Amino acid sequence: MRGAFIVFEGIDGVGKTTQLFTLFHELRGRSRKVVLTREPGGTPVGEAIRRVLLDAENQEMTPETEALLYAAARAQFVSKVVRPTLERGEVVLSDRFVDSSLAYQGYGRGLDLEKLAQVNMLATGGLRPDLTILLDMPVVTALGRLEVGRRDRLELEDTDFYDRVRRGYRRLASADPGRYLVLDADREVEVLAAAVMERVEVVLGLV
Ligand code: TYD
Repeated sequence: MRGAFIVFEGIDGVGKTTQLFTLFHELRGRSRKVVLTREPGGTPVGEAIRRVLLDAENQEMTPETEALLYAAARAQFVSKVVRPTLERGEVVLSDRFVDSSLAYQGYGRGLDLEKLAQVNMLATGGLRPDLTILLDMPVVTALGRLEVGRRDRLELEDTDFYDRVRRGYRRLASADPGRYLVLDADREVEVLAAAVMERVEVVLGLV
């Protein structure tokens, strides 16, 4: 059986984690070996970088620093987690990947998309997900679901920032529809999970 790399993307608060866990358990129930990971963590080095990135005290971080730190965590993640898992024929389910950088640091912060793509090419060695599931939802709905007192550094950004991020994601998906499943995430968890599974079955050759 061949491995597969499946990524969940979307702005904060859309319910990525719930869908990720649901798919994880569903695939396990079907005896697939699955590794569940999250960006920018997933490795000890990556988790250390993640703490720096999300610390609400680090308000002075420049967009360039932010982009490079995400890419650094990603390089570690690809070589230590993603590639070895795929080589064993297993499935990697990841909470976020390169598109998060293009959407947040590119469309959101306004960094040059070409340069970001190049830095990320260095980090990933060109590895791309077999399928990216974009959970899409109006920004006010998504942000309304986050607990106000417990927002991390990025989640403190304003609605305009998230609007740009959301539009960026949609643009990335529409430029390459064969590799994306875009779902209206403002629906029941079970309905979404069924739509996710339907497409994943195709990608994994289960149907
Ligand atoms: P996430 O894993 O969704 O954090 P949590 O669910 O713990 O809040 O992502 C953390 C934040 O990092 C999120 O606001 C999106 C942001 N992010 C980027 O800006 N660029 C990236 O490349 C990645 C991977 C995440």
